This record gives sequence, C-alpha cells and structure tokens, in this order.
Amino acid sequence: MRLRVRPATGGLRGTLEVPGDKSISHRAALLGAIAEGPSEVSGYLEAEDCLRTVGAIQRLGVEVARKGPGHYRIAGVGLEGLQEPDQVLDCGNSGTTARLLLGILAGQPAWTLLTGDDSLRRRPMARVSAPLRQMGATVVGRADGTRLPLAIRGRRPLASLTYRPPVASAQVKSAVLLAGLWAEGPVVVEEPAVSRDHSERMLRQFGARVTADARRVTLDPGVPLRGTVVQVPGDISSAAFILVAATLVAGSRIEIRGVSLNPTRTGILDVLEAMGARVERREGPSSIEPSGTLIAGEAELRGTTIAGALIPRLIDELPVLAVAAAVAGGRTEIRDAAELRVKESDRVAALARELGKMGARLEERPDGLLIAGGARLSGARVSSDGDHRVAMALAVAGLIAEGETVVEDTACIATSFPEFAETLGRLAPGAVTVEP
Ligand code: S3P
Repeated sequence: MRLRVRPATGGLRGTLEVPGDKSISHRAALLGAIAEGPSEVSGYLEAEDCLRTVGAIQRLGVEVARKGPGHYRIAGVGLEGLQEPDQVLDCGNSGTTARLLLGILAGQPAWTLLTGDDSLRRRPMARVSAPLRQMGATVVGRADGTRLPLAIRGRRPLASLTYRPPVASAQVKSAVLLAGLWAEGPVVVEEPAVSRDHSERMLRQFGARVTADARRVTLDPGVPLRGTVVQVPGDISSAAFILVAATLVAGSRIEIRGVSLNPTRTGILDVLEAMGARVERREGPSSIEPSGTLIAGEAELRGTTIAGALIPRLIDELPVLAVAAAVAGGRTEIRDAAELRVKESDRVAALARELGKMGARLEERPDGLLIAGGARLSGARVSSDGDHRVAMALAVAGLIAEGETVVEDTACIATSFPEFAETLGRLAPGAVTVEP
C-alpha cells in the first residue's frame, strides 16, 4: 500500500476527533482481564496493535464481547483466573502488548510463548526479561531470552523488587508494576525521568494500591482488582500529525476534540509552543485521564532544542516534530533520544534518510538528530521502513512539499491510526490518495 500526497493548497480545515489512545487502550484490556467482574471500555482503539492485546487476553481464557465500535465488555477472571494458552501469542508489531503482557505472565504459574512480526522480533526485550527474572520468573528464548520469540513461566508469589531502569520507559515500568500484583511485597520503580503514567492511574482506578512520588512509583500487592468502566480519550500521538500539519500548511485551522491531555504526554504541545506555534488547549471536565480540545492553525516556526526530561513526554512525536524542524527557521537539536533507534524502526536513521530525499538536512547523532531547518521540501518517492509513525510523518511532509510525494509501505499505519488517510483527506480535500 502507498499514499500519494499533494500540496494541501487550501489548508487543513475542520473539526475532528482522533481514535482512542493506544497506551490507555492496551492497559484497559489487560487490567480488565485480571480484574474481578466485568469491565466496560469505550473509545477503545480498534487498530492492529490494540486488537493484538484483545486477542492475547482471549487466548488466556478471558471472554471479550464487542458491543459496538470501540466498545468492549471484558469478563475479568481475577488475579488467579488466567489459563495457559494452547498456542503462541502473536503480538504483531506491538511492543506494548509484548512487554506489558510479559509483566502479567510473570505472575502466572504456566508456560506462555510470545512472538511478533519482523520488527518486533528485532526489538530489545532484555529490559523487561531482566527485572522479571529478578522477581523469579523464568524467561527463555532467542538471544538468551532477550528477543522474541520468548517463552515465560511465572511464579507465585514473585519476589518484591526495587528497580532502577537505565532509561525512562513506561513499558518497562508497567511490566514491573503489573508483575508486582503477584509479588510477596511492594515493588518500586525509580525512573531517570518521568514516563507516561497511564498504568499508575488505571491500576488505582481498578483498586490497586499505587503511590507515586516524583520519579518513584510503588505498588503494594495484596488487594484484588475490581472491574470498572473505562472511557479512553483520543490519542495525542495521533493528533500530533494533524496538529503539525495544520501548523505547517498555510491557511489551516483545525479543532481536535476529546484528546488526551495527560501531562506526561503533552511534550509535543510544549515544543510546538517553544517553536512559535499557536495551539490553544481547552481542558475538559476533570477525570482520571485528563482530556480536552486542541485548536491549531498556521504559524511561522523557529528551531529549538528537544532533550532531557522532555524526551519521554514526546518520544512518539519526534518523527513528526522532525518534519516541523526541517522547515522551521534555524537549527533544531534532538538529544537524549537514543530510544528512537529501537522503536518500530530505527527512527533516527529512517528520518534522516527519507526526509533527506525530500531536501531536508538532518544529521544523525547516536542519540538524536541535528536538523538544519529552513528547507524547501520537494516531492519524492520515500518509504516508511514499515514504521507507522515514519509513514505518517512523511505524509505530513508531502503536504508542504513542492510537487507530488509517494510514501511507500503504508499498510503499517493501521497499527495505530487506521483512519489517518481518510482524516487528512477530509481536512484537506484532494491532498491524499491511497493506492493498494
Ligand atoms: C508506550 C511507551 C513508550 C511509547 C510506546 C507506548 C506505552 O515506549 O514509545 O509507543 O504504552 O507504555 P517505551 O516505554 O519503550 O518508551
């Protein structure tokens, strides 16, 4: 599949909602599975990654009923009710499915086998297998149990643990906290910088005892989880492509409603503002996960520095921010983002190479990019490397390039934002065509 993108001459205009938050959707399915009694989830992201998580809990013996678009009823089996699956769990492209599930499986006295697609089988799993082994789980598999396919056998109770991961990663933090539900005592995760806190919020909502103090999160086991109602807000990581496109394309004005404004995820807004964009935020009614409306339009951008504690707050938005930086006035430096190299693709290399084909000047650094800025992009034939966020970032670049851009290998967009092309086409009629 490919996208053919032309300059969006009339601007992007309209009001929209983006699909449900991917991180929150995964967590709702997983916690719903191990809670006692039913959970009702609405706004669930029906994209490939989150459907992998639904498939996995079903194979672990959990009944899931789809009651409507994005609306699921999950018949939780409690902390002791999961069953040993009779087949390998395929996590597809989804790192969150694999890593969070490993946390849960560490507490199950059964063998489970996990695998994933070509990209996921290349991604590092030592970051979760190491702490889970320290807690007493057995993890075996390729590369000494550090790459999928993996097999895990859990133990009950697991040992308690204080874990200090070398990089801020919500997936690692969540895996350890989830395993902690079956530990004999508290588990503590102390991160070098704050990562997204959806697991902490949702664990509390399901009744778990979780306390957080700056970069230190503690889970005290010993209480059952209770099924509940979860309303998933729109994904700011998907909204980011539309926000940046509206900022870059002359004559744009868009309004995105019902989008997550969790402060551990809003780094994109801080950076766009620092670059000179005007993004108005209107907070919605208070709730476990904050959400609201974002309004954005065309603006003149300048370069900036993106580094340090900001990185985990916008890690998934760096591909599209690289597009903004390529055309902004002045230089942008992205540092402390070595994690970008172990996402669905090596995003540092992919962005430098593919945006380079369009005339942008990006210099690779081990932990980021140096982006010259001031580029006048020209249409080119580019490729996503099978990475959904690279694909969508390149499509946004196509909207402001001169001439036509063809983005190859775009089926991957379905992992997080299946309606992306349709949404862009509605906001900027005629700008995007999907080709099989
Ligand atoms: C996620 C955490 C981040 C992010 C990923 C989703 C999550 O990964 O990039 O898309 O839902 O916990 P890391 O934890 O590896 O940084």
